[in-house]
Amino acid sequence: MTFSFPPAIKRRFWGQVFESPVMLASGTAGFGHELLDLNCLSGVGAVVSKAVTFKPRAGNPPPRLFETSFGLLNSIGLANPGVHHVLQHILPIAADLPCPLLINVAGESVSEFADVVRILESSSVHLGYEINVSCPNVAEGGAAFGVDPDVVFRVAQGVSNATDRPFSVKLTPNGGDIVQSAEAAVQGGASAITVCNTFLGMHIDWRTGRSVIKRRVAGYTSPALLPLVVAKVWQVSNAISVPVISSGGVSCGEDVLQLLAAGADMVQVGTRLMRRPFAAAELMDEMKKLTGE
Ligand code: FUM
Repeated sequence: MTFSFPPAIKRRFWGQVFESPVMLASGTAGFGHELLDLNCLSGVGAVVSKAVTFKPRAGNPPPRLFETSFGLLNSIGLANPGVHHVLQHILPIAADLPCPLLINVAGESVSEFADVVRILESSSVHLGYEINVSCPNVAEGGAAFGVDPDVVFRVAQGVSNATDRPFSVKLTPNGGDIVQSAEAAVQGGASAITVCNTFLGMHIDWRTGRSVIKRRVAGYTSPALLPLVVAKVWQVSNAISVPVISSGGVSCGEDVLQLLAAGADMVQVGTRLMRRPFAAAELMDEMKKLTGE
C-alpha cells in the first residue's frame, strides 16, 4: 500500500470508493436502520452491525454499562437475536441503508463463525463481514480465540471457505501478540484486520469494594486510548498486506486523520456516537476543513 500525506478522506477500500473513511463500530449502531430512522447516517462510510451469533443470546446480567469520568465500560455479552432472526427480520430493513453494511459475527466454537456466515450468505444486503474473535465479555470464544494465532487462522480459513465476500478479523489488544494474530488471519484468508476491540477495564465502588459491572471486568473505550490504538494500527499495517480498519479512540477529525496517517484504511467511531449521534458528519466537516479536500 502507498500512503500520501496528508491522507485522503475519500478512500478506496475492498474495491469500492468510499466518500468517507468513517465506519460506525460494532455494538454502537445496531444494524444501521435504527440510525437511519433518526436521519443521522450522513458522513457514514459504512456501518458495522452488532455481533450476530448462531443462537439468540440474552447477554450478560446488568449492570452492564458504566460511564467513567473519561470513557465507557461495557459488558453486553454479545446480546443479539440470533442469525436466523437477523436474516429474516433485520436484514430486509437494513437494505434501505445509504451505505454498505458489514455484519459482525461471533461464535463460541471455531466452526460457529463459518456456520453463521453460511446462513447470512443468502442475503444480498451486506457488503462483507467483521469476524469478532476479540469480545472481552464472554466465557466461550471471544478474546480467548483472538490471542491464539492458530485459532485465528482456523476461524479465518473457515470463514474464507464459507463466503466470497470480503471479511475483516477484529482482534483484541488484551494479551497475545496482535501482529502475529493479524498475520495468522491474513494467512487464513482475511481481507482486512480491525485494530482493535476494547481494552479490559474495571471501575470499583470503593464503598463496597465491588465492581460496578455485574461481570466485574468489562471492555473500556475512551478518547484516552487513541495513542494505544495508533501504535497498534501502525504495527499491524506495517506487517500485513491487507487493509487495516482502526477502531477506538476517535473524538475529532484530527484523530481520524492521524489514524489514516498511521496506516488505517478506514476508521471506526463508536463511543462518541453515544453523545453525538451525528459524529460521522461532524468528523467529515472537521477533516474537510483541516485538509481542504
Ligand atoms: O459485550 C459485548 O457484546 C462486546 C462485544 C465486543 O466487544 O465485541
